[in-house]
Amino acid sequence: MPVNTYFDPETSSFTHLVWDDSSRLAAIIDPVLNFNYRAARTSSQSADLIIDELKQLGLELKYILETHAHADHLSAALHIKKHCGGQTAVSANMPQVQRAFENVFNLDDMATDGSQFDLLLREGERLNLGELEIEILETPGHTPACLSYKIGTAIFIGDTFFAPTYGTARADFPGGDAPALYNSLQRLLSFDDATRLYLCHDYPKPGEAPQAVSTVAEQRNNIHLQGTGADDFIQLRRQRDAQLDMPALILPAIQVNICAGELPRAEDNGTAYLKIPLNQIGK
Ligand SMILES: [Fe+2]
Repeated sequence: MPVNTYFDPETSSFTHLVWDDSSRLAAIIDPVLNFNYRAARTSSQSADLIIDELKQLGLELKYILETHAHADHLSAALHIKKHCGGQTAVSANMPQVQRAFENVFNLDDMATDGSQFDLLLREGERLNLGELEIEILETPGHTPACLSYKIGTAIFIGDTFFAPTYGTARADFPGGDAPALYNSLQRLLSFDDATRLYLCHDYPKPGEAPQAVSTVAEQRNNIHLQGTGADDFIQLRRQRDAQLDMPALILPAIQVNICAGELPRAEDNGTAYLKIPLNQIGK
């Protein structure tokens, strides 16, 4: 199965393009909408690069898959859907995340049933992509609505494991849960050693290339799994989370991403506004 991976250095995020060679049907996982926070300006160069490649490769986009409601980048799902078609998909548990943030943003007219997305997916469901099958794995912990997508011997794991030398995803956002994350990590480790685990982020040191993929065998040595079991991991995760600041883009990202990447409607002057709630998140 061909996989093209794109790294957005501003948010340290990976987007993956996968396709079935025979039918030319494709799926994009976790597309990024560029956002210059200082100027509050959106742009689509990262997504447009993938759209161009999709066209060059003669692919037809069938799915735009989100592993979760990202807190570090805005989703380009709707931008891509507008240009290429395809169905947006996310966890059927997305309403839990929407409800957790409904009051934070006071979004009165926001539906909290996940209906902004075309497909709400559950554990064990399968999507056809030509001759490929995409199996849905629920891997909560970072958020309650985190999915991994298994295609053949590859799994696109969202925010669960990061690179083995970097660690694991934080579990302190609303609805996050360190014990659930531990169980999700163990579940991913239950697959064959050679299974490729495609990452959602990497944070390389200056001059180093980002690592987009790992294997189950490599993740057995993940630096956050060096203790003896669940309790050690949960303690380490909670200690580390207590020291982390909120991601720079969490407020713009979450309010857009829980609406499938739809930007707020323009007001009567033609300008759209994002909300910055005071004293609602973090410490
Ligand atoms: Fe995330």
